[in-house]
Amino acid sequence: MTMMESSLPDAPDLDPGQSAVLIAGCGYVGMRLGVREVTDGRRVVATTRNGKRFSELAALGFEPCAADLDAGPSERLEAAASDADVHYLVPPPGSGEADPRAERFLTSLGEARPRKLVLLSTTGVYGDCAGAWIDETAPLNPQTARARRRCDAETRFRAWAGRHQVPLAVLRVAGIYGPGRLPRARLERGEPVLDPGESPYSNRIHADDLVQVCRAAARSGQDYRVYNVADGSPSNMSDYLFRVADALGLPRPPTLSRSEAEQTLSAGMLSYLNESKRIDNTRLREELGVTLHFPDLDTGLRNAAGRAVPPGGTPQLVVCINRRMDDNKPSCAARGSEALASLLAAEIARRGLAAELREVYCLGRCEHGPNLRITPGGKTYRGVDGEAVEEILKDLAAVCEAQARLR
Ligand code: FES
Repeated sequence: MTMMESSLPDAPDLDPGQSAVLIAGCGYVGMRLGVREVTDGRRVVATTRNGKRFSELAALGFEPCAADLDAGPSERLEAAASDADVHYLVPPPGSGEADPRAERFLTSLGEARPRKLVLLSTTGVYGDCAGAWIDETAPLNPQTARARRRCDAETRFRAWAGRHQVPLAVLRVAGIYGPGRLPRARLERGEPVLDPGESPYSNRIHADDLVQVCRAAARSGQDYRVYNVADGSPSNMSDYLFRVADALGLPRPPTLSRSEAEQTLSAGMLSYLNESKRIDNTRLREELGVTLHFPDLDTGLRNAAGRAVPPGGTPQLVVCINRRMDDNKPSCAARGSEALASLLAAEIARRGLAAELREVYCLGRCEHGPNLRITPGGKTYRGVDGEAVEEILKDLAAVCEAQARLR
């Protein structure tokens, strides 16, 4: 066998019993969601409007799909959405009262009938509630154009799902934080916050708990259901920023009174300060059966401010070193996999890759050995010889780079 024939990577081993997943708008949360699904053996199609991100998405085992919902509907989405769990994570545009991106997405679905639609919305649709506890039965009262665009998306998704009899879950999500997603720059600039005594309640959810909820909602049997997604431990916004500063080892920001804030803060920031509510998450815990990993800021910030292990775990190069006693039966070690493993381990260390080499006994394709696999992403290599080492290490480096963005 030539190297070109022998060591071409296979597609990840997919579980044919599982439906596919379409992630529309594969940014910070979508990447974390996709890694979880790929790790479970599901086919993940991920849309992005930025072609430069294709290699990053492919390194994680996703099938990248170009879709620019500002330009118009995308024909590619219909096939990807058929019988799939469809997560819509695309934010509305930055202006206007409606969400034309949501409309173009729904038009793009054409005749497709997703197994389930999951729409990410926001708790901002409830508007100001004067600090009251709010569950999903609270009336919508959007007070900013930003929140009205979210309400518009909910309305469009609900109408489309009803017309086409596709089950829909709407997730009203609080402020998302997580590794690499903390207000570090703002704290480093020393921007002031409202005096804690005058600061409104705000609510948050750790990105990895949001991923749990997305997956649970996709699997839920409910036809149409709204879920609030928050950790259930609201605090005031200033307290949040103080605690993030403490967790990052930065100075706490200075405070100012509400009247000072009204003269100095931007209209956008003031709009957040004018809304106060505490989000009740009983439904997601009791109906979806989700147990949050980060039910409060203390646990969440320990993860988000530390060097967190990315979803899918530390990247690994898995090498089969099985050696069979019966020479008539093929095995990877009999074809040189132990030496390959030593070489690859040394190269991982020499290149400083944030990855581990894991030796295993059989990857189930003995007649094609030596066999290797990269996780997450599940790219596999058969009949590997020395000439393939460079390509494998390049692929591993790409996975490390993509994973590093999720830390
Ligand atoms: S012996 Fe290596 S895959 Fe089975």
